[in-house]
Amino acid sequence: MEGHSTYEPKSRAARWLEDRLPIAGLVHSSAIAYPVPRNLNYFWTFGAILVVMLVAQILTGVVLAMHYDPNAGNAFLSVEKIMRDVNYGWLLRYMHANGASMFFIAVFIHIFRGMYYGSYKAPREVLWILGVIILLLMMATAFMGYVLPWGQMSFWGATVITNLFSAIPVVGEAIVTWLWGGFAVDNATLNRFFALHYLLPFMIVGVVGLHIWALHHVGQNNPTGVEVKDIRKDTVPFTPYATLKDAFAVVCFMIMFAWFIFYTPNYLGHADNYIPANPLVTPAHIVPEWYFLPFYAILRAIPSKLGGVMALFGSVAILAFLPWLDTSKVRSANYRPLYRQFFWIFVGVCILLGWLGSKPAEGWYVVFARIATVYYFAHFLIILPLLGFFEKTKPLPPSIADSVLDVARGPAPGTPGLAAPATGGGR
Ligand code: HEM
Repeated sequence: MEGHSTYEPKSRAARWLEDRLPIAGLVHSSAIAYPVPRNLNYFWTFGAILVVMLVAQILTGVVLAMHYDPNAGNAFLSVEKIMRDVNYGWLLRYMHANGASMFFIAVFIHIFRGMYYGSYKAPREVLWILGVIILLLMMATAFMGYVLPWGQMSFWGATVITNLFSAIPVVGEAIVTWLWGGFAVDNATLNRFFALHYLLPFMIVGVVGLHIWALHHVGQNNPTGVEVKDIRKDTVPFTPYATLKDAFAVVCFMIMFAWFIFYTPNYLGHADNYIPANPLVTPAHIVPEWYFLPFYAILRAIPSKLGGVMALFGSVAILAFLPWLDTSKVRSANYRPLYRQFFWIFVGVCILLGWLGSKPAEGWYVVFARIATVYYFAHFLIILPLLGFFEKTKPLPPSIADSVLDVARGPAPGTPGLAAPATGGGR
């Protein structure tokens, strides 16, 4: 569904360049003329928010790296130096640390949006799988970044998570030693984590490029889940419609981001990470950052270490199979009454897992974590495959344009332009 480029170079210089490298035409066809469904809601602005956050993380990270010292003896103090002595260092650091949290908030909403509207279904499977790869890269990047300040949680978090690989039969211990670059989390570990933490975001940029390429090839899904049929009636050009809407959403998101940075910059962090790493003192509770908590709960819910590790990786990997596990012909949950309920239960279970991940792995917490973990996998492996066969879906609108007109008309047909409460598919 690539937009037909109507780009005409205005000057001779532009024509000269266009004949040799048609970059202006590419930008025009993908960011100006590109047709977007006319009924997209604000959940479709999170892709743009993510792009902005990715750029912000790279810019702040590169400048932080100019002042940071990846040496086990100096790392903690170099971060304190950034906070106190580097001009606006505190701002850069708080932007970067809170930026990681904002990035995950946005990506979780982006993923749940995809699940609600069935955006992973054909022909968008590759687009979705590229998203899952981005998520994995983001998780690895955030994990290694958290180790860099070399506080107590950095050190012990790194120790717990790298140790998970020792659960792999036969070669596990050797893998852990190889990851550490020695026999404990130490200077060599910190060095390689810094190198990888710098590298991975650029790999994310590459995969995001493929993600957006795939998106522009198959076209965007929309709240009805019905494909574009008539490009003139069902779509609007990306600029100004999507550009302005995305810009507005980015500004709103930035206000929330700024609120965290300026009013409560340490709320999402952990106080123990302001204590320098000490291999001889284990913190009372080792907890990861909030965005890893649901996965951490799944890890600890399984009594065997190897089982826990497999469930942890499985909980992310299973997302990649979603296009085939969901057997329904209908995409959008707006027309799937049963799926819509199961979707919200699933969201609730993920939040519950997050809360349980923050609690000690004992007593009822473990019992609930086990039930929630079983439900998490059952959602993908049992509920979704069966729903496709048993669910009675609602009738779909004949086209996107029809659904938009339905909404605009509202209950009294024939009053165009008056926005009335959404009925059926529109939203
Ligand atoms: C750095 C992270 C990411 C960036 C920058 C990004 C960027 C984008 C952009 C710009 C769009 C188009 C606008 C929109 O639909 O919101 C999009 C769409 C999409 N993304 Fe992502 N994305 C990221 C991560 C993910 C992840 C982790 C997944 C899933 C696991 C995912 C799945 C999708 C899907 C399925 C669509 C198509 C949505 C539709 O048309 O309904 N993305 N992404």
